[in-house]
Amino acid sequence: MYVCLCVGVTDGQIRDAIYDGCCNYREVREATNVGTQCGKCACLAKQVVRETLAQLQSTQAALPYPVEFTAA
Ligand code: FES
Repeated sequence: MYVCLCVGVTDGQIRDAIYDGCCNYREVREATNVGTQCGKCACLAKQVVRETLAQLQSTQAALPYPVEFTAA
C-alpha cells in the first residue's frame, strides 16, 4: 500500500528500511524520503514505523536467546 504519494513510498519500503537498520521515524524518513514533500503522510508513516518496531520487539522477546547475525 502506498503511504506517501508525493515520493511513492509503500509500507513495505518502510518495513524494509527498519529491517535494514532504521530505528525510528527520522531514520526511515532519511532512508526513504517519506514525508519530505507535503507531509500529509507523516502520521500514517509514523504509525507503520511504530507497528513494525513493536512487532520486531515482540518477536525478539519471544526468542530464548539473543539473535546475532554474522557474515559467513
Ligand atoms: S504524501 Fe508523503 S510527502 Fe506528500
